[in-house]
Amino acid sequence: MRRAKISIIGGGNVGASCALWAATKELGDIVVLDIPEAEGMVKGKMLDLAQCGPIERFDARMTGTKDYADTAGSDVVVVTAGLPRKPGMSRDDLIQTNVKIVRSVAAQVAKHSPEAVMIVVSNPLDAMVYTAWKASGFPTSRILGQAGALDVARFRTFIAWEIGCSIEDVSALLLGGHGDDMVPLPRYTSVHGIPVSQLLTRETIDACVERAKVGGGEIVKLMGTSAYYAPASGTIQMVEAIVRDKKRIIPCAAYCDRQYAIGGYFVGVPCVLGTGGVEKVIEIQMDADEQRLMAESVSHVKDLVKVVREMFPDLA
Ligand code: NAI
Ligand code: 2OP
Repeated sequence: MRRAKISIIGGGNVGASCALWAATKELGDIVVLDIPEAEGMVKGKMLDLAQCGPIERFDARMTGTKDYADTAGSDVVVVTAGLPRKPGMSRDDLIQTNVKIVRSVAAQVAKHSPEAVMIVVSNPLDAMVYTAWKASGFPTSRILGQAGALDVARFRTFIAWEIGCSIEDVSALLLGGHGDDMVPLPRYTSVHGIPVSQLLTRETIDACVERAKVGGGEIVKLMGTSAYYAPASGTIQMVEAIVRDKKRIIPCAAYCDRQYAIGGYFVGVPCVLGTGGVEKVIEIQMDADEQRLMAESVSHVKDLVKVVREMFPDLA
């Protein structure tokens, strides 16, 4: 059986960590592409990673490159190219630089891997998925963004710590954009089937919600750059669902038009992921408070997309 081909554009912290998770899960052959100035860096990282194979027991071809021809015919392409935020910056502050990078990357991906599923990670996430969609011309089922997989993992971690239980037993849901106004949903959070409200006080749950919302910033303050292990882990959870056609339900930045009455934007919603990419967007019932929070988050996403459209009218 042919191995899947997974290309990762941008071989920095998130990109290299994606390569590591994908290799250890033996998801396929991996190509990591970066700019010409970073060619030696990605070639070296991939050589280093390949030499983990005999120890970790994975068979995968690992290629570092500056040449899109090496990515040709990929099944999945992960886009991590772009600047990360530094202390004091919001994700939105990256838009001017990253929109240009993501635009040019997405056009190259479409040229060399026209049948791929493209997963965007670069920030500000929801606006960068929109940019990649417009620049690639991909159908909406084959383009999506990673945010919810990470954000919900952060929320589950904090809930498990408070209860003192295994993170495996915490199941949660989160909607909205990948900003500090994302919408974790305590009403849809349970611990081995028990509603979290029976195990933690309202104040403790609210504290977990707030910590998840600013979880990216908490790490930026500590490290001086943004997180990469968990972002890459969330991304590879999505890649695995796609290459193994697992039909997993994962919150992703997916295109919503009639769904949730979003009107044609990419925002975080629960999706069924399989070989076709986003095979279904699942609509859940929300109460008035949840609807208000979701509307605020979506309105923020729309403002960011407006900035993209103003910068590049051809992406409107
Ligand atoms: P990094 O600086 O370590 O790596 C970025 C890489 O992109 C660099 O190696 C750079 O040379 C490369 N690059 C720049 N322009 C390129 C181009 N035109 N073509 C190919 N490669 C190019 O940054 P890091 O930490 O890996 O973050 C990458 C992006 O992911 C940032 O925008 C960051 O904000 C975002 N991010 C998103 C998360 C999410 O949950 N959606 C979580 C963490 C980071
Ligand atoms: C994060 O949430 C910066 O988006 C990145 O860690």
